[in-house]
Amino acid sequence: MSDVTTFSATISATTRNGILVVTIDNAPVNATSADVRSGLDKALVHAEAAIGIKGVVITGAGKTFIGGADITEFGKPAIEPTLPDVIEKIEALSKPVIAALNGAALGGGLELALACQYRIASPSAQVGLPEVKLGIVPGAGGTQRLPRLIGVPAALDLIASGRIAKAAEALSLGILDELPETDLVDAAIEAARRLTGASPRKTGELTAAPADPTEIDKASGKILAKARGQKAPAEAVRLVASSHRPLAEGLADERATFLTLRDSREAAALRHIFFAEREASKVAGLEGIDARPVVTIGICGLGLMGSGIAIAALAAGYTVIGLDQTQEAAEKGHERIVGLLERNLASGRLDRSGFDAQKSRLFVTATDANLAPCDLVIEAVFDDLDVKIDLFRRLDKVVRPDAILATNTSYLNPDEIAAATAHPERVLGLHFFSPAHVMRLLEVVRCEKTAPDVLATGLTVAKKLKKLPVVTGVTEGFIGNRIFSAYRREAEFLLEDGALPHEIDVALENYGFPMGLFAVYDMAGLEIAWARRKRQAATRDPSQRYVEIADRLCEAGRLGQKSGRGWYAYPDGKRTVDPEVTAIIETERAKKHITPRSFSKDEISQRMLQAMATEGEALLAEGIAARPGDIDLVMVNGYGFPAHKGGPMFAKS
Ligand code: 3HC
Repeated sequence: MSDVTTFSATISATTRNGILVVTIDNAPVNATSADVRSGLDKALVHAEAAIGIKGVVITGAGKTFIGGADITEFGKPAIEPTLPDVIEKIEALSKPVIAALNGAALGGGLELALACQYRIASPSAQVGLPEVKLGIVPGAGGTQRLPRLIGVPAALDLIASGRIAKAAEALSLGILDELPETDLVDAAIEAARRLTGASPRKTGELTAAPADPTEIDKASGKILAKARGQKAPAEAVRLVASSHRPLAEGLADERATFLTLRDSREAAALRHIFFAEREASKVAGLEGIDARPVVTIGICGLGLMGSGIAIAALAAGYTVIGLDQTQEAAEKGHERIVGLLERNLASGRLDRSGFDAQKSRLFVTATDANLAPCDLVIEAVFDDLDVKIDLFRRLDKVVRPDAILATNTSYLNPDEIAAATAHPERVLGLHFFSPAHVMRLLEVVRCEKTAPDVLATGLTVAKKLKKLPVVTGVTEGFIGNRIFSAYRREAEFLLEDGALPHEIDVALENYGFPMGLFAVYDMAGLEIAWARRKRQAATRDPSQRYVEIADRLCEAGRLGQKSGRGWYAYPDGKRTVDPEVTAIIETERAKKHITPRSFSKDEISQRMLQAMATEGEALLAEGIAARPGDIDLVMVNGYGFPAHKGGPMFAKS
């Protein structure tokens, strides 16, 4: 082995057996920053010129091969060489270049690998072109080389969805050539030596097998239907579908499209969400604080919410002890959880050994004392203060003093629940969203007395559960439901001021929400919110504007889709505008002497956005939310706010 040659701060190489082994070392994810590109460029020039070098292996230090282009450079002046320049040099090299994928090869990372003549990977490697998730298309040849390598339909599936493929799938698709069982770099050197002298197989020179146009139309139809008005998936489809063009023409079109999208508001919004997710786990006051160990999780209440939490906890490897009021209810809970596991088994999400392992870690009981081994207990019982206080007092007596108690309340004050216990510092809120095994968002509620290591444990457990934790302070409804209340309130003001439910819904759907607010209400049922409004009636500030239309609907027995009528009628199950609802709204407007006016879709969505952003500002001022990005994450991941609009705070910035 030769000495190490340094080509830039992040690129170094050794020569082994006549092969230049180039290592990219640009923590944390080996993104192709200007320094990486410049170092690679120099290494390639050196490899071409040095007579003793017969081939090149490119690999990454750490657990990633290349995480993609450095997205922190987006929006800054371009620095040459660009990634396409480097990739072109790889493909033009007269000596074989082997990509040795030690981990994920994403975006520009896979594009670089695609230009190499051979791709070899460790079993933990993953590949993907997730650019559309950042509002862009691949900008360094991905849309042109991948279809040449694996055909248009498979490339369309990967590029337009942005999904990541594991090594075994990548091998079967033909993206990878080999998954060696021996040392990755040794095997890559071996491959380079094998290919020396052979005429190089250049991906860019392959011809994509012509794809059936009806198949393309079908696949792209599905992708575009899911895109909810986003530009990048449509552009990705267009570029892949036209990849039979001469390479240079396709590459030029791809680059121009990439650059336009990269500078768009949509891409800025999705980058904002990407970085906000990573920021959210950085919580002030928790630096250097260790989480408490958690092996066993108790779950009180095995209804839909409790069962969903149990599924997430079992999947994460925890032992689960479920508690319900009676043995019968506990058994029913057990059945429900096992039923969900069986569904995962049937869908292939879980294999038989995983199913058996998860089931063996599930216990249920109706006896409080059986929760004694728990390191963390999460309650998911009826959202009533007395019920929860009673439960926490009982738990206080049976679990170890260092065990953590979490409430899943949506609206109650967790400080009041904590105050009823002997150790309020071990209490926090873990507000899951339903269905809890599906929804990623988890509001982690820092109560007045929550100890730092208890909060740190909440965050660690959340991540193990594969959730996206966002820390919130105590306020009615926490971050999400407080903003949602403002959103709902504004929609009701709009109703009174002149808009109709379907007009508001269409405006929201046009904006990018998967479903309008009133359609969502009907699906969820109107009675729970009605009961809450009745409870709050006595303490409501009479000087605040209150819209009674929803109450009138409930009084008329219109409790949502289940009752056949709500904000809409459902003849034959189909959502339809109902003149009866319009009449109720008109009567209420007349009672308040409101002269209705009409609203454009844009006015409606802007008023709704403004209401959310104003409430968000209040949450920041009160210290309930730490950052605007945290609010955006909550609304995008829990309330259907379109990610490509960046969340209400970003949208209004
Ligand atoms: N550029 C710059 N920084 C990046 C980055 C990128 N492409 N990808 C990740 N990072 C940063 C994160 O912001 C984070 O920074 P922080 O520590 O300061 O918060 C750090 O790297 C670690 O990231 P994760 O917490 O996400 O680390 P994981 O180990 O969990 O995941 C990963 C690693 C799978 C690579 C994940 O980071 C990821 O999915 N990255 C984005 C992949 C991507 O979208 N690539 C395409 C980029 S666009 C492109 O390539 C254009 C090309 O076609 C021209």
